[in-house]
Amino acid sequence: MTAAVTHTDENKPSGHGLIHVILVDDQPIVGEAVRRMLSDDPDITIEPILDPIEAFERIRSTLPTVLIIDLVMPGIDGLELTRRIRADEATEDIPIIILSSESDVHRKVEAFERGASDFLVKMPDRLELIARIRALAAKAVAEQALKKMADRLQRQAVALDEANRNLQALNISLESDVSEQRDRLRAIAMLGNELARIQDIDILMERLLTEARRILGADAGGSFLVDTDEIRLTHAQNDSYPDPVLLDQLRQSAANIPIDLTSIVGWVTLENELINIEDVYSISKDAPFTFNSKFDESYGYRTRSVLAAPLTGITGQVIGVLQLINPKHPDGTSRASFNDDDENAVRQFASMASISMQNAQLTRSMILRMIRMAELRDPSETGAHANRVAEYALVVYSEWAERHGIPLEERERERDRLRIAAMLHDVGKVAIPDTILKKPGKLTDGEFAVMQGHTMVDDTLFDELLSGYDEAAAEVVRGHHERWDGKGYPGSQVLDRDSHGYLVFPTIPIKAGRSGDQIPLFARIVAIADVFDALGSTRSYKEAWPDERILSLLQEEAGSHFDPELVEIFIDRIETIQAIRHKWSTP
Ligand code: C2E
Ligand code: SIN
Ligand code: SIN
Ligand code: SIN
Ligand code: FE
Ligand code: FE
Repeated sequence: MTAAVTHTDENKPSGHGLIHVILVDDQPIVGEAVRRMLSDDPDITIEPILDPIEAFERIRSTLPTVLIIDLVMPGIDGLELTRRIRADEATEDIPIIILSSESDVHRKVEAFERGASDFLVKMPDRLELIARIRALAAKAVAEQALKKMADRLQRQAVALDEANRNLQALNISLESDVSEQRDRLRAIAMLGNELARIQDIDILMERLLTEARRILGADAGGSFLVDTDEIRLTHAQNDSYPDPVLLDQLRQSAANIPIDLTSIVGWVTLENELINIEDVYSISKDAPFTFNSKFDESYGYRTRSVLAAPLTGITGQVIGVLQLINPKHPDGTSRASFNDDDENAVRQFASMASISMQNAQLTRSMILRMIRMAELRDPSETGAHANRVAEYALVVYSEWAERHGIPLEERERERDRLRIAAMLHDVGKVAIPDTILKKPGKLTDGEFAVMQGHTMVDDTLFDELLSGYDEAAAEVVRGHHERWDGKGYPGSQVLDRDSHGYLVFPTIPIKAGRSGDQIPLFARIVAIADVFDALGSTRSYKEAWPDERILSLLQEEAGSHFDPELVEIFIDRIETIQAIRHKWSTP
């Protein structure tokens, strides 16, 4: 299924026509009718093909998202075509809807036996057809995500073995080195294993920067990720200016650097080479790049020496850049410039980091794919909502962990799990019909019951793997609408499946949930972050509220809806929360 989704993904502008449907029917009139039915759904593109042989070739070459196949056709019939599609590795996972002119139960059984995913009688109702196509597309994407995740875990195991071998090799080659440099290189090698476990790319970048600065002794630094069309500063650290608000401003002002040779970071990215500059204020006039002195000017900092190194994936392409600024002695006094040992250490560091970089990027792209799937439904909001909720949740968790004396390594691990889980909290909304999701007014009880189903897809989406990430994501999906007083949902209620394996959503609202600390901490945190963000946003059914009103609701509902300690923390950190919202606000 991978290729099917990737194909549509690459060839269509985002958010439109992402669901590519091929209809195989020998009667032109059917193709025309179905085309008309689907014509005003912007997410679906339909391609009718009359001849089954020609269709098979086209299906193999384009890997559509969903197929609709007529049962009775001259030459090869719908069942035979289905069998061929299922027998081919490239096409075996594409969902198939069989169209039949009669609802004979034997035919239906036979169709499912041959591998059909669904069976519809001609001509189906327009809304039903759209709903079935969407449901199959969502299911295919979810299954594909699971497959990818399994592949990735496999690769990760291989990568860890590799890291261990590197470590041994390094230990041998180190015997002759002078002791200080040897200790540094050993520390870097030791980190490899630990870093390979970090799944979230932003958290990984922050950690890489912190460790590289610690090991090399650098007063300041920045970490950058190379996107398709620009370079993004992910973290800035500065021992002389440890103020997070200030550094966040820097992060915003330097947010997007073009990929060209005019900046130090751009040069490192394009040349895939390390650069060591003794003083950025005396860069030769012949150099293609200049130093951006904006931060220095605003805050009176003096950037002097810069050591910038490319971070590459396992296949060698530059994924990121680490920039280290102003070297220090272990006692904190400044050193003149970065030396050969520093260059070697940062090279070793970058090579150790590559496994974890690659890995975290794969995780991120899988999660973005799942979020984009949900975003198809609500293109203006969902993506930013997911990111904001995740970042608010991290702020609350960090403060909670501080207060509860959680050890630093555990915090790091938990932050990583929480970020991913929080981003996915509403992923279940992909299964909710548009008529409910985008309803301009208040939902009826029956509609709200269906809506509640978005918290009940945890075992559908996450039960196949036992990594800590799935566990955290499942907890948050299931727990983010629970209430502290037990009046939330969905408690322990699970979704049924009908005889075709389709999920059956609730029809009567659930009123009993879990309460207090029966609700997992991450879910309690996301509950507050989610409501804060939902109230501050315009939805199809409501206007955005002013902050005062939101904060007084949070306070009023501390101890009833929300965990009171977490509300206190949230309000305590409101300035940071607001800065995050500002960062993610759509311009
Ligand atoms: P959402 O829009 O992301 O809202 C998340 C949560 O924020 C809601 O969970 C609720 O706890 C809170 N919230 C949002 N708007 C309001 C509001 O105007 N007043 C108050 N007091 N709280 C608010 P909830 O209620 O479980 O809803 C879950 C999801 O169901 C919502 O996510 C939204 O997608 C949908 N939904 C809920 N009510 C309606 C509605 O009346 N019309 C429509 N079209 N959708 C609704
Ligand atoms: C679904 O929600 O069932 C499919 C995803 C979409 O197109 O909205
Ligand atoms: C469906 O309703 O079948 C799509 C949701 C899923 O199976 O994950
Ligand atoms: C697609 O890309 O074709 C499906 C939507 C997504 O998950 O990105
Ligand atoms: Fe939700
Ligand atoms: Fe939400």
